[in-house]
Amino acid sequence: MNLCIFKPLKIRKVLVRLWYDLSYVINILDTIFNHMITIISATNRKDSLSLKVAHFYSSLLKANNTPNQVLDLGDLPRDFMFSNFYGASTDEFSSLVDTYIKSADKFVVVSPEYHGSYPGVFKSFIDCIGSDGISSKKVALVGVATGRAGNIRGMDQLTSLFHHLKAEVFSSKPKLSQVHKLLNDQGKIENPETVALLQDQIERFLKF
Ligand SMILES: Cc1cc2nc3c(=O)[nH]c(=O)nc-3n(C[C@H](O)[C@H](O)[C@H](O)COP(=O)(O)O)c2cc1C
Repeated sequence: MNLCIFKPLKIRKVLVRLWYDLSYVINILDTIFNHMITIISATNRKDSLSLKVAHFYSSLLKANNTPNQVLDLGDLPRDFMFSNFYGASTDEFSSLVDTYIKSADKFVVVSPEYHGSYPGVFKSFIDCIGSDGISSKKVALVGVATGRAGNIRGMDQLTSLFHHLKAEVFSSKPKLSQVHKLLNDQGKIENPETVALLQDQIERFLKF
């Protein structure tokens, strides 16, 4: 008789305990996995300086204990534009999108200036994936150019593009003009003002 009353109560207690433990684990996993930042170097040019800036940015985030990964558009499948367009998709491309776009919580787009704008390969990449994995997420932009404008127009155009995809763009957009003079042989930026500009963007973007 006693058994009939107490057994269900004991089972309930165990289930409640399990539920709390499970929620705790889910919360920890959420903290670890939902704060990944993908830094996209928005060009596929070999020896790109934007890619060097992206890796330098990554080192600043790492020093801040912020999980991050760099996506080099040079690593896209060569025919991605044709094999992943208008509903077509390949496993290689889908897995890259899962890893770098869908699993990320925020993006930093380091974009070079190509003919007064951002590179066509980046627009093609976006045209292949659409807003899936991008909308509602947060984006910080960094402009890179050997000229003096630091890709200011590209920053505006990228802002319009991301707003169209319903992503939120952070207001601070450092523009690295004459970037070849900023990077040393090890791919590091030593200029204190530029480093401070990037650090300030990182500090505020993490709270954004
Ligand atoms: C196709 C192309 C177009 C470019 N157009 C511009 C430009 O309009 N203004 C500018 O300051 N630099 C321009 N550049 C030079 C880039 O700013 C320079 O390559 C810089 O290092 C950033 O690009 P990267 O990441 O490819 O190195 C151009 C470079 C390429 C390859």
